[in-house]
Amino acid sequence: MNVLVVGSGGREHAYVDALARSKNIGRLYAAPGNAGMAEQAECLDVAVDDLEGLVAAAQQRDVGLVVVGPEVPLVAGLVDALIEVEIPALGPTKAAAHLEGSKAFMKDLCRRARIPTAGYRTFNEASEAIAYAESIETWPHVIKADGLAAGKGVLIVHDTTAAVAAVRTVMLEQAFGDSGSRIVFEEFLVGEELSVMALVDGETVAVLEPSRDHKAAFDGDEGPNTGGMGAFSPSRLLTRRTYEQIEERVLVPTVHTMAKEGRTFRGVLYAGLMLTAEGPMVLEFNVRGGDPEIEVLMPRLQTDALELFSAAAEGRLAELGEVNWSDDAACGVVLADGDYPSKVTPGKSIEGVAAAARHEGVRVYHMGTRRVDGQLVTAGGRVLCVVGLAPTLQGARARAYAAVDDISFQDMRWRTDIGWRELPAADSAASSAGAEASAGESTA
Ligand code: AMP
Ligand code: GLY
Repeated sequence: MNVLVVGSGGREHAYVDALARSKNIGRLYAAPGNAGMAEQAECLDVAVDDLEGLVAAAQQRDVGLVVVGPEVPLVAGLVDALIEVEIPALGPTKAAAHLEGSKAFMKDLCRRARIPTAGYRTFNEASEAIAYAESIETWPHVIKADGLAAGKGVLIVHDTTAAVAAVRTVMLEQAFGDSGSRIVFEEFLVGEELSVMALVDGETVAVLEPSRDHKAAFDGDEGPNTGGMGAFSPSRLLTRRTYEQIEERVLVPTVHTMAKEGRTFRGVLYAGLMLTAEGPMVLEFNVRGGDPEIEVLMPRLQTDALELFSAAAEGRLAELGEVNWSDDAACGVVLADGDYPSKVTPGKSIEGVAAAARHEGVRVYHMGTRRVDGQLVTAGGRVLCVVGLAPTLQGARARAYAAVDDISFQDMRWRTDIGWRELPAADSAASSAGAEASAGESTA
């Protein structure tokens, strides 16, 4: 079967890498792809938001499955367009992608389905939001632009003055464009943040192995929020019971409510959660796989990726049975451009990728690269994700960092502490969670 992967990042490279290992794979295509994917797939010069171009490309190349990586084409309706021409796709329709496309919709759905999430109010008028901000007595609160804002439309505010300023920035000055014409005002939750992903076929929820990313730019979880500077899998911090609670209380009711309301969800469902004293609560849903979480999951996947993705796209997950994973741990280190996330200067020559990829138990996924006259150059803020695999997380991490040493580009920056929460020398956060894990409970 010919397969098209839509996207140009590390997540999509990891999908391509997993599909390339599949026994029934025919020709693999990526649109637009990147320099890494080009080694395993034919890259097509079609942008992720060119829906017509993508559908035409899939038809012309007799593609039997389209795997859609990023949220933008999903929210724009790529899967609907593919369904119209009877090409199965891994990804939700526009109606189902609304779960990520509108925070207000997501919160209302949680309320209808009794899924635990922070208390909230939605506002369409800045004057009403400001009046509300002036009436609040306990702080902080969280203000979120309703629509997609490339991960930036969330502001934590600590008093009335800051809240009013935030409402002005988002609703009146439209700092995040149209997505801020409606806002959600949310209670602030305290706890440990984590995410859980599942493959969903409309009905059946196949929870993926636990993975965790590191969102802060610098070591020790300092600095600004990023798309993720590294990830690891599995995670022992998450007990089996918590994992099951998340499946039962969050993922299953979400999928069933969506189906009942005519928004059948197929694809990768990503729940961002806060583990509060009252149990797991939803912060957000994404309608696509995490990046770099997918980069540490795909190398551990033992079930045939093409069979698995096709089953999810065609509503056959229950027939497929258990998804199998390698017992190895994976640790992924993101190599970023010096000023990421504030500024990105593309076009820097990258050296040493081939040498890094030759290390035993290492895979190098390209997140933002291009080839110019044969030379590999940077083409984004996050450039490469170097993944080590080994029987222990410590071993996986050592392999990843040894391979990182071989790679260089100007102003290359990376975190040196990926996985720190779960390693022996970690701080009290890890040791208290370790105590939870050792309290006679098996871990997820
Ligand atoms: P979101 O895009 O909704 O996941 O928000 C981005 C980040 O803001 C999350 O990863 C959390 O760190 C933080 N955040 C969002 N909502 C809340 C909340 N209700 N309470 C505390 N932190 C939050
Ligand atoms: N790594 C976080 C995300 O993909 O949303």
